[in-house]
Amino acid sequence: MTEILFQRMKEEDLPEVLGIATLSFTAPWSEALFRIELQSPLSRPIVARQQGRIAGYLCSNLVLDEAQVLDLAVRPDLRRQGIASALIRETLACLRGKGCRAVFLEVRASNRAALALYAAEGFEVTGTRKNYYTSPLEDAVTMVLRFNS
Ligand SMILES: CC(C)(COP(=O)(O)OP(=O)(O)OC[C@H]1O[C@@H](n2cnc3c(N)ncnc32)[C@H](O)[C@@H]1OP(=O)(O)O)[C@@H](O)C(=O)NCCC(=O)NCCS
Repeated sequence: MTEILFQRMKEEDLPEVLGIATLSFTAPWSEALFRIELQSPLSRPIVARQQGRIAGYLCSNLVLDEAQVLDLAVRPDLRRQGIASALIRETLACLRGKGCRAVFLEVRASNRAALALYAAEGFEVTGTRKNYYTSPLEDAVTMVLRFNS
């Protein structure tokens, strides 16, 4: 795989990040939501850069010893090359280093790619939330990864 550079997401990354989000989700995050992540001291939005361009991004936050994966996407033309796995592993390593004990996330029930990805990275299904998502209306599958201390 071409070398990946992980960097904290910056204001100037937003046009590229928004482009990936728009191509990746039926209801993508707005620019305002990404800006909140850039400014929140609890959040850690990162980008994966490959050959200078942004290949994907992952936003997470950490409150005390519990974290959440909030948003993750990879450029459609760069998928199935391990970029999302690399973003998750980098994020998990950082969270663990900060004393995190559990990482939570929600994913659309129909999102087989993401469900397979998270399972491959060690997340376990904990349940579902009925009609959690809109545009289109859909259940969420909830997942968790607990770090062994
Ligand atoms: C889900 C997503 C982030 C995966 O990104 P990616 O860089 O292609 O994922 P990776 O290459 O790291 O895949 C790692 C593993 O995840 C699983 N996986 C990824 N995409 C898959 C797919 N389309 N179908 C089945 N399994 C898939 C596989 O186990 C894969 O390992 P393998 O390629 O050796 O079989 C990407 O498809 C995406 O951006 N989708 C739209 C946005 C989205 O759904 N984000 C998640 C919201 S919760």
